[in-house]
Amino acid sequence: MTIQSERDVATRTLTLPEELVLMLLNEENGYFHQVPGWDLNCAIIGAVLAELSLRAKIDMDTQSLFVLDKTETGLQTLDPLLKEIANEPRARNTQYWIERLAHHAEGIIDGALENLVTMGILEFHEGEFWTLSRSVWQTELYTGTQEGTAVEFVKTRIGKVILAGDIPAPRDAIIIALINTCDIFRFIFPIDSEAEERIDLVSKMDVIGRSISAAVSDNLAGPMLRRSAFSKTIPTASLRKVVTNPLVRTGNLPALFAELTEAYGPVFQLKPPLAKPMTFVGGPNANRWVHRNGRMFLRTKDYFAEFEKVYGANGVLPALDGADHFRLRKSLAGAYSRGRLEGRLDDLYRYIRGFMASWSVGDTFQATTLCRTMINAQISPLMISVESQDLLVDMAKYKERALLVKIMKALPNFMLNTPGMRRRAKLVDDLLGRVQDGHTTAQREGQKRDLADDLLSLHASDPQFVPETNLRFALSAALIASVYLGDCFSFALYAMASQPEMYALLQQEADALFENSDPEGDDFNLTSLDVTHRFLMECLRVYPIVPMSIRNVMNTCVVEGYEIPVGTRLFIAQTAAHYMPSVFPDPFTFDIDRYRAPRNEHLSPGYAPFGLGTHTCLGSQWMQLQLTINVLMVAHYFNIEVAPANYKLKINPIPSLKPSKKLHFRVAERRREIPA
Ligand code: HEM
Repeated sequence: MTIQSERDVATRTLTLPEELVLMLLNEENGYFHQVPGWDLNCAIIGAVLAELSLRAKIDMDTQSLFVLDKTETGLQTLDPLLKEIANEPRARNTQYWIERLAHHAEGIIDGALENLVTMGILEFHEGEFWTLSRSVWQTELYTGTQEGTAVEFVKTRIGKVILAGDIPAPRDAIIIALINTCDIFRFIFPIDSEAEERIDLVSKMDVIGRSISAAVSDNLAGPMLRRSAFSKTIPTASLRKVVTNPLVRTGNLPALFAELTEAYGPVFQLKPPLAKPMTFVGGPNANRWVHRNGRMFLRTKDYFAEFEKVYGANGVLPALDGADHFRLRKSLAGAYSRGRLEGRLDDLYRYIRGFMASWSVGDTFQATTLCRTMINAQISPLMISVESQDLLVDMAKYKERALLVKIMKALPNFMLNTPGMRRRAKLVDDLLGRVQDGHTTAQREGQKRDLADDLLSLHASDPQFVPETNLRFALSAALIASVYLGDCFSFALYAMASQPEMYALLQQEADALFENSDPEGDDFNLTSLDVTHRFLMECLRVYPIVPMSIRNVMNTCVVEGYEIPVGTRLFIAQTAAHYMPSVFPDPFTFDIDRYRAPRNEHLSPGYAPFGLGTHTCLGSQWMQLQLTINVLMVAHYFNIEVAPANYKLKINPIPSLKPSKKLHFRVAERRREIPA
């Protein structure tokens, strides 16, 4: 096989937009090399036009772009644009089309990414990150063959053209011209003046590449000119109306955000007395913006730094941005994965049964304490291989106080220094000591790997990246997760116990799964959990534990037509949409059929219980499995009731949502014996 034909094999399924997306991928941070939005959109449309031209569907000269053959290519990334061009009655030039079609670029990028994932070239990671798939790396880098893959080959081809002087194929010349227009070559290859000259030369070689690059460059003046159009004034919500809103009394913060978003629009301000104005964004479109574009404009470090400092840490996972964040997230993904929990199901069942063994008919438990403790009795040994029941209440209080003082700024600094809080602060060291004692080589012999193993080995292999100062915080994660998951469990038990028909349906699924023997990981699937799955999705919509996220604006941005200046502290009310009737009709009704086709209401960007963008909950899969199993095992063994019987749900939303202290659960019936 000649080099030319190998090249054809390797790229035959890839279109120019797909190749451009691959070239732009930055393996360090799992996203694209930074190309300003408009430039990237223009370059992507340029790639589509060039692909259509290479396929002899269109042609272009300096005056106009015209259609040669309007039959479809069969590719979703190309056909809608070809159709739009073919339907235009007047002759237009390339620049016109690039500008007119630019709004398709996001969809084309999404389509290209999806294709590349389907072809096994890219891997998708939750949080909107992409990397080259491992198989591609292995084939390309280790064996040196390029059979069946295209990625590194694209970069290698381009590298050979600009660094080694190879003669480019027409599509390579086009890619080079487009990347040059985006001005990002220097991030991809080491570029000296000789390479620069070569890039300039190659960029001009191909007539299509040349005319498209010229048209793209002409369009690049766009954003600056556009900016002045974004001058909508951000409305201020009436503080009096907020304070007197009945939703404040019931603590339903997401529903309050929904009302405000509906009344004032997707961007609004609150101006509390004696404090800086607070800027909020809410609603499905704002969610989509944060999810897709947040990484370019929003930073987490600023708001989180003060909180992590309380634990002596600097640069823990939720506080990082960009490439460092991506690297740490990747390193910890296994520890928080569903697979890790599936490997420990026998232990999980044992912990849950052990906890429930002492429950007797007539016992009444305060809901949040019961649920947090029950979850902690599982998460602590599973994640860090130590017991921490005795520390849970105090450490959770300390964390809550730190959040209120440092992040919500709802309490003055000295409230973190009271004698009680100082005593609690020391418990973090107790926990660290326990984990260290339990993680010597001898102690871990023959044990299954846990989060602490992963963190300690990251620390040992790169103490600058994961310093000892950060371990205290990172290892307390198991306790913090117990609080979030525990509170979510409280809401789920409340929703189950207060809706007898739902309880009966959940019991049917629980009994089918647990009747004969304990289920394996893949027994928990969308068929066996048809009701349970939708029930828990609805719990997370109605009672989203984390109602909003905080970020600082690091680059001036425009959200839904409102310009938000650099330096703004942004309150992202991602769960506002959970209570917007336009997204979830009749939002106060608990309705698990929302998630059935054709309604599929959760597919809107308005459904965001796990946050948005790069910091999306890393434990969401683990958490959903653990929550499912806890709910099902309670349902299998017990009938529980809400107590007092006339209890009306009130939510305590600060700093995260939980049912009010008055909610209790009463054991009404033990349905079967719990095996020892
Ligand atoms: C009901 C339970 C939970 C909910 C609703 C939830 C929700 C969230 C949300 C909204 C975020 C993003 C915060 C932000 O944007 O600033 C987040 C981050 C995170 N969650 Fe969860 N979470 C839950 C339970 C858990 C559990 C049980 C684990 C561990 C197994 C976990 C691990 C994480 C981690 C590691 C992050 C940080 C990710 C990052 O910064 O890249 N979560 N969670």
